[in-house]
Amino acid sequence: MTTTELETTAKMMVAKGKGILAIDESTPTIKKRFDTINTESTEENRRAYRDLLITNPNSNKYISGMILYDETIRQSTSDGIPFAEKLVADGIMPGIKVDTGAKDFALHSNEKITEGLDGLRDRLMEYKTLGAKFAKWRAVITIGSNIPTNACIEANAHALARYAGLCQESGIVPMVEPEVLMDADNTIETCYDVTEKTLSKLFATLKSQDVSIAHTILKTNMVISGKKCTTQANIDEVATKTIECLLKNVPSELAGIVFLSGGQSAELATAHLNTMNQKNKDLPWPLSFSYGRALQEPCLKAWGGNSSNIEVAQKALLHRERCNGLACKGEYDSKMEDAAL
Ligand code: G3H
Repeated sequence: MTTTELETTAKMMVAKGKGILAIDESTPTIKKRFDTINTESTEENRRAYRDLLITNPNSNKYISGMILYDETIRQSTSDGIPFAEKLVADGIMPGIKVDTGAKDFALHSNEKITEGLDGLRDRLMEYKTLGAKFAKWRAVITIGSNIPTNACIEANAHALARYAGLCQESGIVPMVEPEVLMDADNTIETCYDVTEKTLSKLFATLKSQDVSIAHTILKTNMVISGKKCTTQANIDEVATKTIECLLKNVPSELAGIVFLSGGQSAELATAHLNTMNQKNKDLPWPLSFSYGRALQEPCLKAWGGNSSNIEVAQKALLHRERCNGLACKGEYDSKMEDAAL
């Protein structure tokens, strides 16, 4: 592995005022998104949608990288340029989702273990030739009655560490994603405790497997109230508790932290990131975004599966990208949302 290559990629991923657009939905997940706009999930419709996300003029002002799915990294723009090549030409780094999904965790009901280690070294080599600079692996940690178990947190941390090692060996920056889900009725305090356990176990395991933390990007959830919790923590509380948890559990040498949106509304995800950056000017790592739904939702709706809406859909996407780019510097203002109408 060349550490210079890893260092350059990791730094560029979290360059000031920029973040990652996650467009790596698996085929079953993108079908669910297309169902919301009554659009059939055919290979051509998926290509056409990813085409408008990837070729959006000026995205490169706010977007440093895009995470692609296996099908997408093999597809091309309407003009026949491979997507990864188009991204590189625009100064955006192609990334790739390399896990093969979260499966039921043996002996542990309602918990998941992420698979995809078998054959990963060869797949990474192929993705590298296709242009991938970084790779994502998502572990799912569920909050519920008597869960998560230590067994689930440990098994997922171990898989994340093994994948991260293989990535670094290939010169690909690992984006390690332990996602504590926000779908339950738990309080923000429970989310804090579970996130803390998950992150401390993850970094201890990465270190014990000799993964270079300085060449790793963390993609994490915010510390937030569960969606079904009757008391919803406000923006300041989410920002304060998230930063506290990260400072306590994430090594300072980490290359950067990016957040997933996890089902938050587009505007709230931006406001949370902005408050964190506005109130904390001297964090040890850049704090940015790697949103899927919170960047794409307005754009997906505007497109609606209709090619005559591409321009308006791209505008909606660029607006979210810009707002989040500003949020990385603590310079976002919710009034910008009205201006965009
Ligand atoms: O792994 C999760 C996705 O890349 C981010 O998706 O922002 O919709 O949670 P999300």
